Amino acid sequence: MDRFIIQGGIPLQGTVRISGAKNAALPCLAACLLTEEPVILENIPSVRDIATTIHLLKTLGVTIKESEETSTSSGKEAHASQRRIVSQANRVESVEAPWELVRTMRASTLILGPLLARFGKARVSQPGGCSIGARPIDLHIKGLEKLGATFHMEHGMVVGQADRLRGARIYFDRITVTGTEDLLMAATLADGETILDNAAREPEVQDLASLLTKMGANIEGAGTSTICVRGVSKLHGADHRIIPDRIEAGTFLAAAGITKGDLTLQDCCPDHLQIVIDKFREIGMKIEKISTNSLRAWAHQPLRAADIATEEYPGFPTDMQAQYMALVTQADGTSVIHEKIFENRFLHALEMVRMGANIRVDGSQAIVRGPVQLSGAGVTASDLRASASLVLAGLAAQGETIIERVYHIDRGYERIEEKLQAIGARIQRISYK
Ligand code: EPU
Repeated sequence: MDRFIIQGGIPLQGTVRISGAKNAALPCLAACLLTEEPVILENIPSVRDIATTIHLLKTLGVTIKESEETSTSSGKEAHASQRRIVSQANRVESVEAPWELVRTMRASTLILGPLLARFGKARVSQPGGCSIGARPIDLHIKGLEKLGATFHMEHGMVVGQADRLRGARIYFDRITVTGTEDLLMAATLADGETILDNAAREPEVQDLASLLTKMGANIEGAGTSTICVRGVSKLHGADHRIIPDRIEAGTFLAAAGITKGDLTLQDCCPDHLQIVIDKFREIGMKIEKISTNSLRAWAHQPLRAADIATEEYPGFPTDMQAQYMALVTQADGTSVIHEKIFENRFLHALEMVRMGANIRVDGSQAIVRGPVQLSGAGVTASDLRASASLVLAGLAAQGETIIERVYHIDRGYERIEEKLQAIGARIQRISYK
């Protein structure tokens, strides 16, 4: 087990390289199951969910070769690895995602669509609840049934079977990111045309579509709410670079704001962050687009309160809600945060209250009154983005903050403490038994 010890109160300064997007890399890795040829993916982040996915793919019989090219830090520039993974699914022996893996990472369900499309069978453990909500996979299953798959439950496993999938019109009752990705992958090898309606428009869905197109798929409309896929009989290998992680970038923007620092983000995609940038400017941060892939963010004035409601892309991302909450503890006035995607994503609020924040949670809304001087305390991380928000709070707090269960943060942030140290933060990882 690891914990972080943070001495807060230092304005962060310098340059951070943003890693590849975890939530784009996960479906792209699953997409390698759609072909027997090698799929080469670059800019894969070194985070635990990727390690779990690689483990899962190896369990299925996929050959994975990894190579790492690390650009070392110089001066104030932070470390970042640029990992390349070559996966080849030419000897798949198993079609099962077991409970041990699905339990630690729900995105394991992303193999359902590709396995059914290529092998006509899949067994994926039924995910249980998780700390941010119930998160069922009914929409994945309903969509795959429309494509002709049949499902039954067996000892906690969702067992799917299909002859060749057939194209169909699928309307998602609610917008689902991995659901759209799962169906998109399945439809590439289905017979005929599939229309995905009310599809997710997230950049990660677009990135997957771009990889699939390079593999020979025929896809139109990715990035809009209607995606049309004309199935092909076979896909081939491809070479693809994963987009930058917009949530990691947003978290570092928040770090500049909460510490009254001045940071430059390199290798990010400002276009994917538009709503976050707009909101951070509204509360008084200065953010300048330096180039198509870099941003500078600073905050020398006191921040002002502002409300947010989380929405599907292009709305304010639920994956930035916790970090925004930490930031507006430092803003003058009352900010109302409405979480509309997940039903239980405020566990970080209680921990921030322990650090002196003035936050009242009322159902799906949190009311934050600021500014308050946060004070270091012992806190516990409950999920990935909650952990990031506690790190932010710790960076702004007076004195020492100890964050327990930082394995949550390792799921999705690449060496966050090293990146933070390189821009001046006093943060240490302590491992203990
Ligand atoms: N939902 C259903 N049925 C389904 C699927 C989803 O009811 O079959 C509900 C969920 O319970 C939730 C809502 O629909 O209330 C949206 O869930 P979605 O399916 O979009 O979430 P996801 O695909 O499981 C991805 C990201 C999450 C991110 C959400 C929302 C990946 C691997 N995960 O999850 O990322 O919060 O979309 O944008 O892409 C994170 O990175 O920390 C993270 C949790």
